[in-house]
Amino acid sequence: YGTSSVNEKGHLTIGGVDTIDLAKDFGTPLYVYDIHLIRQRARGFKDTFERLGVSSQVAYASKAFSSIAMIQLIEQEGLSLDVVSGGELYTALKAGFNPEKIHFHGNNKSPEEIAMALDADIGCFVVDNFYEIELLSRICKEKAKQASILLRVTPGIEAHTHDYILTGQEDSKFGFDLQNGQAEEALQKTLDDQSFKVLGLHCHIGSQIFETTGFIMAAEKMIEKMADWKVKYHFSAEVLNLGGGFGIRYTKEDEPLAPAKYVEDIITEVKMLMDKHQLAMPEIWIEPGRSLTGDAGTTLYSVGSSKHVPEVRNYLAVDGGMSDNIRPALYNARYEAVIANRPDAKAETVVSIAGKCCESGDMLIWDLPISEHQPGDVLAVFCTGAYGYAMANNYNRIPRPAVVFVEDGRAELVIERESYEDLIKHDRSLSRFKEGSE
Ligand code: LLP
Repeated sequence: YGTSSVNEKGHLTIGGVDTIDLAKDFGTPLYVYDIHLIRQRARGFKDTFERLGVSSQVAYASKAFSSIAMIQLIEQEGLSLDVVSGGELYTALKAGFNPEKIHFHGNNKSPEEIAMALDADIGCFVVDNFYEIELLSRICKEKAKQASILLRVTPGIEAHTHDYILTGQEDSKFGFDLQNGQAEEALQKTLDDQSFKVLGLHCHIGSQIFETTGFIMAAEKMIEKMADWKVKYHFSAEVLNLGGGFGIRYTKEDEPLAPAKYVEDIITEVKMLMDKHQLAMPEIWIEPGRSLTGDAGTTLYSVGSSKHVPEVRNYLAVDGGMSDNIRPALYNARYEAVIANRPDAKAETVVSIAGKCCESGDMLIWDLPISEHQPGDVLAVFCTGAYGYAMANNYNRIPRPAVVFVEDGRAELVIERESYEDLIKHDRSLSRFKEGSE
């Protein structure tokens, strides 16, 4: 995985840093990000567009993992940023990210969030529904501002990782339906409104997708409409945003394309479709989240208790679980892991990795072949860089772990571990309902 290797002590290293030292220095559980790999991925996407001679924006979907340092890394690499909430926007602004390169998503943006984004002069709103058109228009007028927008459409294609479902009327909470006239009505409304500069269309068909078929099917549906709307409304889309969703390899069974290969294949098809419909090639925007950070992240845990259920299973518990990685419990997501003290040692038993939360479903990995181990060893679970910390929670009042970036043999703490103090920071003592008080 990435720049992970094994050093002279036989320990797992990431970015040239000994993971056992990291566990000692920063404690466990610990998320370790190999930022060299994130840079490589970012450059891979950008270079591919450049090589194909297509103007683009690659926006990191910060829902995958947002923090001040992460956003600063994305800025260093010259990417744009997709935010989906006031909190993600706030983080980006505090990180000093160029607001012009921020795209604001969401199916229920609040008036406060919209005002905040307009005040910050962000680059683009991805408008999701008719209520938002009204709301955004009103707030633009109050502030005497114009908003650049993309219309989020549902092209009627849903990707379920390997296969695609074509539905006439897609059952999704997001976007304007492309087939039933909703999207066209949204276009008419926004073109007629001085509050908006309509840049183009957006769609996102799903996540952890292994093939390009679904993207191309979606692009085709959008391009057909673009051709239609050019004639009807003299509307030329400057931007076509194809969303994110490029899959990554969590386990050996996963067979995604190389991240940049998705772009290459999709863009080649999109160019042909544009030619076919005699449309000028718009700027292509994408929004990768998982494929930028997923396999760059590794979680280090300390090994603790174990339980043997004769003839059934060996449980091995670690000091984290569904509080720092809810994906196995939520999606049956699968991961691979090694004992970081001796990653090269032969696997000699099979264990199921349990978390420490009070819930039977708190299992991180079922049936993992593993080498000899003992309490205090470090278990490294790979590919936890996307939707790991981002979906971490305080279930059982477990503090969120720390996050460390590593590169070229150096490590830097970028998110501190939560303390017990942090956990009760917003708690208040009973006062009004105290016994004896009125
Ligand atoms: N753009 C839009 C509009 C999205 O909704 C998403 C993800 C992305 C981009 C980024 O997709 P990615 O490249 O990361 O696949 N929590 C789930 C994933 C939810 C994805 C939601 N939207 C998980 O842990 O698998």
